Amino acid sequence: MGECMEKQVKILGIAGSLRKQSYNRGLLQAAVELSPPNCILEIFDLASIPLYNQDDEAQLPKSVLLLKEKIRAANALLIATPEYNYSIPGVLKNTLDWGSRPYGDNAWNNKPVALMGASLAVQGTSRAQYHLRQVFVTLNMHPLNQPELMVGLAQNKFDDTGKLIDLKTREKITELLTALITSAST
Ligand SMILES: Cc1cc2nc3c(=O)[nH]c(=O)nc-3n(C[C@H](O)[C@H](O)[C@H](O)COP(=O)(O)O)c2cc1C
Repeated sequence: MGECMEKQVKILGIAGSLRKQSYNRGLLQAAVELSPPNCILEIFDLASIPLYNQDDEAQLPKSVLLLKEKIRAANALLIATPEYNYSIPGVLKNTLDWGSRPYGDNAWNNKPVALMGASLAVQGTSRAQYHLRQVFVTLNMHPLNQPELMVGLAQNKFDDTGKLIDLKTREKITELLTALITSAST
């Protein structure tokens, strides 16, 4: 968790990958390290979220209830997405679907959200991010337009322990956090 002081902005961070050495988890970890004092950034691990099944909507799984509570308690969200086959990874889309249900109980509603993503290709998750922006319309989330943070060639930007070592990307994350905090505070 990041540090906290004065009027805190609570940010919930979600990485769309379950991989232990995930670059996207690494981006979120860097964001925790770079969090300014007026913000607290908590990472929610999607490993506990089951596959969506509409039959389970009447009694939501415990992990989904916890996720929805944490979304609602947050002032803003920070999503780090991989790109799978030019789109949103199933793990992340599945989570967005759970959080929006049952109908009329959409936990994502009205939340400011910032996007970032890391991938092996040069485009750095651009296609997944633009697909996510389309989904944000129906979820009524408010994505920051700028800055865009697309980390291509991720294999060159993290060390063996999964730490983000690319200084430009670290600076961009700071910019993104600043913009998100501003948008969540106004
Ligand atoms: C099923 C699958 C599809 C992928 N498709 C893409 C793709 O469309 N574009 C891309 O840049 N990378 C693609 N990759 C490679 C990912 O960029 C790479 O696996 C990356 O490490 C995933 O993010 P993570 O490190 O956070 O798990 C794909 C990987 C998988 C497993």
